[in-house]
Amino acid sequence: MLEASNLSKSYASPAGDLVVLRDVSLSLTPGESACVMGPSGSGKSTLLYILGGLEPPTTGTVRLDATDPYALKAAGLAAFRNREIGFVLQDHCLLPQCTVLENVLVPTLVGEADKDAPERARTLLAQVGLSDRLDHLPAALSGGEKQRAAIARALVRQPRLVLCDEPTGNLDAETAQVVADLILRLHAQQHTMLLVVTHSEALGARFERRWSMSRGSLTV
Ligand SMILES: Nc1ncnc2c1ncn2[C@@H]1O[C@H](COP(=O)(O)OP(=O)(O)OP(=O)(O)O)[C@@H](O)[C@H]1O
Ligand SMILES: [Mg+2]
Repeated sequence: MLEASNLSKSYASPAGDLVVLRDVSLSLTPGESACVMGPSGSGKSTLLYILGGLEPPTTGTVRLDATDPYALKAAGLAAFRNREIGFVLQDHCLLPQCTVLENVLVPTLVGEADKDAPERARTLLAQVGLSDRLDHLPAALSGGEKQRAAIARALVRQPRLVLCDEPTGNLDAETAQVVADLILRLHAQQHTMLLVVTHSEALGARFERRWSMSRGSLTV
């Protein structure tokens, strides 16, 4: 279970503290999906980074099952993120010099040897429709294909929590629908927890559970 309690985040600035998140609490149980919608600058990415162990909150706590990621030392936190969290970002962030298959395998190169990883990667790439693009470099993929590869990469370690930041933000409407279908279908299959943040009404409408973010506050 993911439990975030009373999260706040502020950044020091010359004009005083800039408050970006205000007393945000949310929880997700395994198999659950939800989305956070809100305008640009409302704090969606900040919330996602805090939940994903990338950015400590100013106050409040995050717990994934029994673990508070911010109580871990740096190496433990990196391993925790690698093992438990799958990120899909607006910009796919694939490594340009690696093939599609290699990109999907990158998260599995850290830590203990994962001998089943190549098979899982190929299965996932088949599920996202990229079986015949395994050896392509990212530059030779369409935007939608890159995002599908990024989804396979996020899922290859079978994370407990999948966090997507505007996963369809750079795609045309039709491709965005294909990518949203895939995210939701794989989530249903893998029984992960899924949180998507977006300002896209079309993407948000796909979720039964929706929160709104406005100036750093979360409302149902
Ligand atoms: N490192 C930082 N230092 C100072 N201010 C920051 C920092 N990161 C984000 N902010 C500010 O926090 C606010 C929220 O940013 P955030 O990226 O979370 O918004 P968002 O809802 O994801 O917006 P978008 O839809 O445009 O991606 C913004 O006003 C931003 O300028
Ligand atoms: Mg953002």
